[in-house]
Amino acid sequence: MRKIMVAGNWKMNGSKAMVSSLLDGLLHGLGEQPGADVVVFPPFPYLPQAQEILTASDIAWGGQNLNPEEKGAHTGETSASMLLDFGCRYVLTGHSERRALYGETDADVARRFEAADQAGLVPVLCVGETLEERERGETESIVDRQLDAVLQQAGIAPFARAIVAYEPVWAIGTGKTATPEQAQAVHAFIRNKFASLDGTIAGQLRILYGGSVNGSNAADLFAREDIDGGLVGGASLTVEGFLSICHSVHSRD
Ligand code: 13P
Repeated sequence: MRKIMVAGNWKMNGSKAMVSSLLDGLLHGLGEQPGADVVVFPPFPYLPQAQEILTASDIAWGGQNLNPEEKGAHTGETSASMLLDFGCRYVLTGHSERRALYGETDADVARRFEAADQAGLVPVLCVGETLEERERGETESIVDRQLDAVLQQAGIAPFARAIVAYEPVWAIGTGKTATPEQAQAVHAFIRNKFASLDGTIAGQLRILYGGSVNGSNAADLFAREDIDGGLVGGASLTVEGFLSICHSVHSRD
């Protein structure tokens, strides 16, 4: 059975003091063998600090983005090999803030996803519709288009390791969570799409939900058949907030 994953996307938040107290608090609070795979995504400058604190622990870490080129004249960018140099196992690709605020297109996201996979990182592919798109009844067609761009570039094989995160834009940072029914419906749509290409990969693929996940709604969301955990923003910035989500996970074994 797919193991639940709880991932904290810190976005552009943090300081040396905050990283140290947050990660120490998580390490102490999680205990031995947490029921979920736990991952944090700090801003780039704090990756060495995360590596120092988390090495040999059960908490993994990753980058919030990457440039698909290996190296060279790309001022301000970070490559997959640099993330690997600091022990990252995962990297987010196509977060809606990257798409909306920094102009990343489906094609850009696909190239980042492929570069991450080829370098040996596990890409977490974020997809999701805006409120207007949902109201126009376009949720499935938008998610379908976002997935197709990546599938056409990289094929199905990377999804034997990669993770998909469904993050409806209208639920991010708004306190408006998708209901478990709404989220489950889109997760099932995503899994069925993969099942039409490869049943084994579809069965193993972890699909996380993101958008105002907190300690009060996580258990209901994660209880749904096709919701394999959460990608958490705001609530991942405090020890209590993130631990309450991690502790609401019940083992699926
Ligand atoms: P919030 O949990 O703050 O809504 O953010 C979700 C998100 O964007 C995670 O990547």
